[in-house]
Amino acid sequence: MTNRSERKKVLILLGSPRKNGNSAILAQEIAKGAEAEGAEVESLYIHGMDIKPCQACWVCQNPDAEGCAIKDDMQTVFPKLIEADSWVIATPVHWFNMSTQTKLWMDRCFALAKYGENPFRKKIGIAIAYGDVDPYASGAINAIRCFQDAFRYVGAKIAGIVYGSALNSGEIAQNEAALKAAKELGHKLAE
Ligand SMILES: Cc1cc2nc3c(=O)[nH]c(=O)nc-3n(C[C@H](O)[C@H](O)[C@H](O)COP(=O)(O)O)c2cc1C
Repeated sequence: MTNRSERKKVLILLGSPRKNGNSAILAQEIAKGAEAEGAEVESLYIHGMDIKPCQACWVCQNPDAEGCAIKDDMQTVFPKLIEADSWVIATPVHWFNMSTQTKLWMDRCFALAKYGENPFRKKIGIAIAYGDVDPYASGAINAIRCFQDAFRYVGAKIAGIVYGSALNSGEIAQNEAALKAAKELGHKLAE
C-alpha cells in the first residue's frame, strides 16, 4: 500500500473553455492512469479562473520579490504548481496553437522563479485535441513545438504528449488509441 506521503501529486490544467471537451477527456484518462498508480490528482479548470495576462513588469524576477505582482487566481495556482510532482497541460488547438487560456497560464509561470532553485523540475504531460484530421495542418504541431521549447528552456521533462483529432465535444471518446495512450501517460506521470 502506498504511504500517503509517498503519493505523487499530479496537477491537471484544463485549458479549454469546454469543461468536458476533448482535451478534458484525454486529461481524464491521464488522471485514471495516475490514480491507478496511487497518485493524488487535482484538476484546475483555468477558463473558469481569473487569470490575467502577464503585464511584463518583471517584478517577479527581483530576488526580493514576493512573487507575481498581479493579485488574481494565479496566487492560489502557484503553490499548487510547486507542490505537484507532475503537471498535465490539456489544451485544444485554437487558431493553430494552444488555447489563449493555456497561454495566459503559461506566461504567468514566469513568476515561479521565486520558488527555489528550479521550480520547473517536474514531469510534464501534454494532451491536445484539434479539429483537423492532420496534426500538422491543424497547428497542433505548433503547440507541441512551443511546449517542447518552453519546457526545455526551464529544465522540465516532458514525459509524454498525447493528441487526437476530434471536432465536436466528446468525439475523442471514440478514439481508443488516444485514450489508451493518455492512460499510459498517466501511469508514467505517477511513477
Ligand atoms: C476558436 C477556435 C479555433 C479553432 N482553431 C482550430 C485550428 O486552428 N485547428 C484545428 O485543427 N482545430 C481548431 N479548432 C477546433 C478544436 O481544436 C476542436 O474542436 C477540439 O476538439 C477542441 O477541443 P476541446 O473540446 O478540448 O475544446 C478551433 C476551435 C475553436 C473554437
